[in-house]
Amino acid sequence: MQENKKFYITTPIYYPSDKLHIGHSYTTVAADAIARYKRLMGYDVYFLTGSDEHGQKIERKAKEKGITPKEYVDNIVASFQDLWKLMDISNDGFIRTTDAYHEAAVQKIFKKLYDQGDIYKASYTGHYCTPCESFWLERQLVDGCCPDCGRKVEMVEEESYFFRLSKYADRLIEHIKTHPEFIQPVSRTNEMLNNFLLPGLEDLCVSRTTFKWGIPVTFDEKHVVYVWIDALSNYITKLGYLSDDNSMMEKYWPADLHLVGKEIVRFHTIIWPIMLMALDLPLPKQVFGHGWLVLDGGKMSKSKGNVVDPVKLVDRYGVDAIRYFLLREVPFGNDGVFSNESLINRINTDLANDLGNLLSRTVSMIDKYFGGIIPEHDVHVAEEDDSLITMAESLAAKVDSCMDSLMLPEALQEIFALTSACNKYIDVTAPWILAKDEEKQGRLGTVMYNLAECLRVVGVMLTPFLTHTSPRIFEQLGISDEELTKISSVGTFGMLKVGTKVQKGEALFPRIDIAKELAELENSK
Ligand code: ME8
Repeated sequence: MQENKKFYITTPIYYPSDKLHIGHSYTTVAADAIARYKRLMGYDVYFLTGSDEHGQKIERKAKEKGITPKEYVDNIVASFQDLWKLMDISNDGFIRTTDAYHEAAVQKIFKKLYDQGDIYKASYTGHYCTPCESFWLERQLVDGCCPDCGRKVEMVEEESYFFRLSKYADRLIEHIKTHPEFIQPVSRTNEMLNNFLLPGLEDLCVSRTTFKWGIPVTFDEKHVVYVWIDALSNYITKLGYLSDDNSMMEKYWPADLHLVGKEIVRFHTIIWPIMLMALDLPLPKQVFGHGWLVLDGGKMSKSKGNVVDPVKLVDRYGVDAIRYFLLREVPFGNDGVFSNESLINRINTDLANDLGNLLSRTVSMIDKYFGGIIPEHDVHVAEEDDSLITMAESLAAKVDSCMDSLMLPEALQEIFALTSACNKYIDVTAPWILAKDEEKQGRLGTVMYNLAECLRVVGVMLTPFLTHTSPRIFEQLGISDEELTKISSVGTFGMLKVGTKVQKGEALFPRIDIAKELAELENSK
């Protein structure tokens, strides 16, 4: 591991909602792939996710069910954690905003901002969207409704504490303008500047008195801290901010990447950096707002007919197929469409045909022609060898450049371009014809070796994305030396050892009969 190469990545902390759909898994799977990639590249990674458990919405839901808010969230958070295990999420930390250390730190943050005059008391009259836990000005409403979710807002009138966003607005605008990488993709920078910052920032109401389920303000106990101030603080409270032990803060802050959905970029690029400025802490290096996974014709919901329950999808198709779909199908930063049909097509085309078939054909041929032993080979004997080898040797650099700009689907495309090239290489070299000619055994060996070595490279590069598949590729290729599964082993072609015994195994991704499958899904609705 290289010294001083740290990478702190976070997902939003999730609201405990009764049913997580596949869209919810999107942020976490994407963050996981990035975290795993950085680990593969030798970074000391801290990957944080968690749950956002306070607020009026939760209090109301618990009341409807006749249980306490804590009982309500405990159940759901346990199911989140199970889901993340199922999706093979490699988070290093999980924060709950009901954790005692978090509550204590948020209280200290609030008091500190109050003591230094950045939070003050006044009376608030205005609009509030409870589902989004957002305050809105009259001029921001769309037909009298919340501009984010379109639902009715409530008129609230209460004595509140306010946070002086206005005091820091110019500094924030300056930061955004001088750090074009801060808000990504760049379209979101313009949206934040033009829609929110440049028209003028109002101070933000940061406490509520009409419900109880929140972190109490220590010096005025009828107030609870506004849920977004509570939630955003998680990124530093988990690192021990204002606790006895500051070592994690020193090691990992500022965050390298806050990965969030596009609808919450506003909170992360306006309220959060201003909180950090007021606390005299450095700002995160980047906030990336990704798009949504939507169903044909609209937002995701269970009533739309497609299976959107991530647990059911994983049960049916396996975790790697679902991870692959999420990472490959949605242009990073834009919306992507989910349907059972597009999922099955991806599985069949890329995973079963391109990758799965290539592995099984290669292993079968090595088995048949060389008794399962990876044969001797000549280097660079034909033009088709040269271009394949060049492609394999340059793959890591290409993937790295995609991952640097968080172009996840493009990174996968690069990897699968090598599998396609291998499939073409089989067509061009026609090993079954070489096999018939005694004199061509050397050539046949070279072809087999090149295919196996390319598959090893593909296996290494897929490790962050398809967490179960890479080990299966290595197993079928007979690779037990861990060095050969590391990124450092893919720059030079030819590391796979001659004489290794391959092991035929099950198909990586069985092909799905799409018509039959869709009919079955239709019937099981
Ligand atoms: O916003 N497609 O939590 P949340 C893609 N608690 N991403 C989706 C999605 C979809 N269909 N549906 C949800 C919150 N998400 C706050 C965050 S952070 C300090 C507080 C994503 O549970 C969404 O965009 O509503 C967000 O990134 C994440 O799921 C959590 O959303």
